[in-house]
Amino acid sequence: MIPRLKAALGFSEFKAAFTFSRSDDVNKFENEFARLADQKYAVAFPYGRTSLVFILNALGLENAEVICPAYTCVVVAHAIVTSGNVPVFVDSDKVDLNMDLRLIEKAITPNTKAIIATSIFGYPVNLNLLNEIRQRYPDLIIIQDCAHSFFCNWNERAVHKEGLCAFYGLNVSKIMTSIFGGMVTTDDKSFANKLREARNEILLPASVAKSLKRLLYFIMVYPIFTRIGYKFINRLERGGLIDSFVKHHKPDIIDMPSDYLQGMTSVEARVGEAQCKHYYSIVEHRHKIAMIYLEGFNDIQSLELPLYNDGATWSHFVIRTKYAKALIDIAFKAGIQLGEIIEYHIPSLLAYRSYRSVGEEYAKTLPGNVINLPVHAGVKEEDAFRIIKIIREKIQCLVK
Ligand SMILES: Cc1ncc(COP(=O)(O)O)c(C=O)c1O
Repeated sequence: MIPRLKAALGFSEFKAAFTFSRSDDVNKFENEFARLADQKYAVAFPYGRTSLVFILNALGLENAEVICPAYTCVVVAHAIVTSGNVPVFVDSDKVDLNMDLRLIEKAITPNTKAIIATSIFGYPVNLNLLNEIRQRYPDLIIIQDCAHSFFCNWNERAVHKEGLCAFYGLNVSKIMTSIFGGMVTTDDKSFANKLREARNEILLPASVAKSLKRLLYFIMVYPIFTRIGYKFINRLERGGLIDSFVKHHKPDIIDMPSDYLQGMTSVEARVGEAQCKHYYSIVEHRHKIAMIYLEGFNDIQSLELPLYNDGATWSHFVIRTKYAKALIDIAFKAGIQLGEIIEYHIPSLLAYRSYRSVGEEYAKTLPGNVINLPVHAGVKEEDAFRIIKIIREKIQCLVK
């Protein structure tokens, strides 16, 4: 079975994981990541969401309103609440699915202090619109959520550099991974120092038990994401037997992982450092597969395709369609898993119903009506053509 996601892990990451730990492993990963991001500083955390908590706390924000997308990973909202602040949700742009920046003005109050601009699914935030907001509200702090997009570009401008800082999630579903882990990049020396000081003071050192668990998890990732391994795992997933591993959220609970304040392990840092060397080839492959899909579906009216953008990094190839469920089922029968993420609209989740949300709730129509096609390292060109054929045939039957 072709899984919906697969980390681009090879021998070099495996070898890195089994190299002896050194006290400067995390530091070396940070330096390599900063170099890749072409930024001065990078600070590592155990999760992307932990890095957001530390960013907001380092800014001294308390009970401040922080604007974020209504359609993004719910852990972003969890991190804002955990930091002692208040998320304000903004609806999605109907064209690129990023937060609709034209609505931001309606969300801003005197208590708004920061905006989390997210390049969802690897599609770059429109920097022209973002910079208009920055000019009008120079005191608002811009934080780039690059957990999906990493180093995407808008008109050849690096999105992650447009604001105070950017943060990244590095779990195995991401474009590049350090098993779990998060990172912040910035060019602001005093902010980087503040973050580092807070991290060193507050985070507990990673325990031996955590390092062993991470190593074991990493070893398991290799066989699980092979086609045979995933066939078995997918059965368990569909039967709901591994929900605690694969489901990100409980609709009524705002929480963080129990080890979110335990530092990144050395093994994660070494794997992450090894991944940095492959970043550009990983993105190049995703781009190539995405182009095949764009071309293969461009004449089908009932599929709303992602926009082409040269600077996109294609963490997901998301198609909007009312036939999502039928397509997921037919692909599954053919041994292909189509992704459904993001399968919720955050302001509709019980835990967030009392929070302010701006816009007409276009994002509410997305869960259940999107599929994402695999673009990862395990998808060959011939797989992409097969996926196109299967979907085209099914669509022809459905629209008759
Ligand atoms: C858009 C987005 N932002 C932030 C995060 C947080 O990353 P992490 O899971 O490492 O906390 C994720 C996680 O998957 C995400 O998808």
